[in-house]
Amino acid sequence: MKKIRNGTVIDHILAGHALDVLKILGIHGGEGHIVSVAMNVISKKQIKKDIVKVENRELKPGEVDKIALIAPSATISIIRDYEVAEKTRVKLPESIRGIVRCSNPACVSNAEPVEPKFSVERQDPLRLRCYYCVRIMEKTDVLKQF
Ligand code: CTP
Repeated sequence: MKKIRNGTVIDHILAGHALDVLKILGIHGGEGHIVSVAMNVISKKQIKKDIVKVENRELKPGEVDKIALIAPSATISIIRDYEVAEKTRVKLPESIRGIVRCSNPACVSNAEPVEPKFSVERQDPLRLRCYYCVRIMEKTDVLKQF
């Protein structure tokens, strides 16, 4: 894949999830960003992975949190003038607030103006437990909301 001059590289995405990352970033193609996507390529560690490169765009903090939910092994590199200016590995905190809603329609968090809150029971495969109604949410439930 070609190096980029300025922008963001999301590397080491769990194989098969590049399109979910584009969805989180709100990239559908019509925005005009230069985007390169590689799917199911072999990493240096001989593991299949996806890569997304978005030129001239840096990520917002909320987007990084969402990427952590569906691609816990991803690294995010900010590229400035061909150099890696910053590189971070996404990380899921022990609890998450406000990023996703509880999928239980009867949950109090869907009825009252409270911020949804989940404990992260497992990162991969994802398992979140609602703080209010103990409903378990998995990656497929989370992806439906993005
Ligand atoms: N990259 C890019 N354009 C640049 C510089 C880097 O697209 N001008 C990409 C690299 O291809 C890589 C990511 O940004 O996907 C991180 O770059 P770097 O840390 O230099 O790569 P590696 O050491 O190969 O990273 P890792 O060990 O995380 O695989």
